[in-house]
Amino acid sequence: MSDAATLILGDASYRFPILEGTEGERAIDIRTLRAKSGCITLDPGYANTGSCESAITFIDGERGILRYRGIPIEQFEQAPNFVEVAWLLIFGHLPSPQEYEAFAADLTACANLDEGMKHHFEGFPRSAPPMAILSAMINALSCFHPELFELEDADRFRVAAARLISKIRTIAAYAYRHSRGLPYIYPHPELRYVPNFLHMMFSQPYAQHVCDPVVRDAVNLVLLLHADHEQNCSTSTVRMVGSSQANLFASCAAGVCALWGPLHGGANVAVLEMLEQIHHGHLSPEEYVRLAKDKDSKVRLMGFGHRVYKSFDPRARMLANVAERLLPQLGVRDPLLQIARRLEEIALEDPYFVERKLYPNVDFYSGIILRAIGIPTNMFTVMFAIGRLPGWIAHWWEQAQTSGNKIARPRQIYVGPLETDRVPLSERGELGTA
Ligand code: ACO
Repeated sequence: MSDAATLILGDASYRFPILEGTEGERAIDIRTLRAKSGCITLDPGYANTGSCESAITFIDGERGILRYRGIPIEQFEQAPNFVEVAWLLIFGHLPSPQEYEAFAADLTACANLDEGMKHHFEGFPRSAPPMAILSAMINALSCFHPELFELEDADRFRVAAARLISKIRTIAAYAYRHSRGLPYIYPHPELRYVPNFLHMMFSQPYAQHVCDPVVRDAVNLVLLLHADHEQNCSTSTVRMVGSSQANLFASCAAGVCALWGPLHGGANVAVLEMLEQIHHGHLSPEEYVRLAKDKDSKVRLMGFGHRVYKSFDPRARMLANVAERLLPQLGVRDPLLQIARRLEEIALEDPYFVERKLYPNVDFYSGIILRAIGIPTNMFTVMFAIGRLPGWIAHWWEQAQTSGNKIARPRQIYVGPLETDRVPLSERGELGTA
């Protein structure tokens, strides 16, 4: 097969090298396209555009494969450990027992927020969306740790990464406590990552929350299944902001904002709202699916479809199994699980979904699991953000370490007016023209 692509434009032809990734993904390297031909490419939504080379995560959307640093995610199911996966993604290899213990100890040591930061929570109304608080407070962290702005060496970066991964769960828990008017619960020095988070969420000053190992494992799995997904919207945002050499905290705060949207991480909230709507009898599953197929309705079957997965999303399969196991273990009977299953059944047999290769994605079952654990719906996307943070950090660092890194700055095809004159205000009509 040729190792170059030829572009013919009128009478001229140009050759561009073909790059090939370790898993055989091929790309036409068009870095010299504009300089050679005067043309740019147009690819709204970037569905055909590789923005970088990355060694972190591999996805094969046709075969439903997801691997972190080469390891299939299914291999993390037996003893799910979010901290181990976070290390793997960020530092490129599974941690040794010593590395793991040191990192876990760092996460415990860094969990407190500066007391000054605590007052910021008071300024938010009770009804403030937790994603807004999360983004604002991650950005605010950079005010409290300016020494971590310059992360040129790996040791300082490791401290910054541990700080951020540790503190995001404290911020998340405080956002929740604030929204409920509950006292903040300080992190516990003897609890590991997930039990500590659940402690800050659910303990009372007079009664410590006891973490059920079944819940601990389920939360670990939910978090690690969200931990990275290569160049998705929020990760690309983190990379884009980081490409201007903005600091790690600012870049990840931007990632939170990108994740918030209902077409991305916000879909887990939208799924729950959809299931509740059906449960409360507003629509049957059949009617909802009919509506989702009707382009005029603007309704989508939330938690279905993915830009990359075109056969199944392996995360959705694993989460469906967890939901199936966990609810009986906790003695929870949630009618929304039956509704989700019914919706899936209908959609998977419907030619509209089959032809468009639309399958349940990671958001379809995650909410049912989180709800069974007692996480309120408005915290679902925050949970996604906690899970995705190691991926954002890994990508930010990978980019920072890449030599010849360029600021992300796409071009456009301008379709506005040609050069025109400014009309004086007094001579303008109602629409601002003469
Ligand atoms: N329900 C109904 N129709 C859908 C759905 C859906 N959930 N998803 C896609 N389609 C249809 C589109 O209308 C379009 O139909 P057409 O070809 O007749 O115009 C076709 O399938 C392709 O859809 P696009 O929007 O072009 O696909 P894209 O790759 O841009 O979008 C996305 C992927 C955003 C995930 C989309 O499937 C969607 O909106 N899903 C629902 C929201 C959701 O679950 N988001 C979470 C994604 S996973 C994540 O970010 C963690």
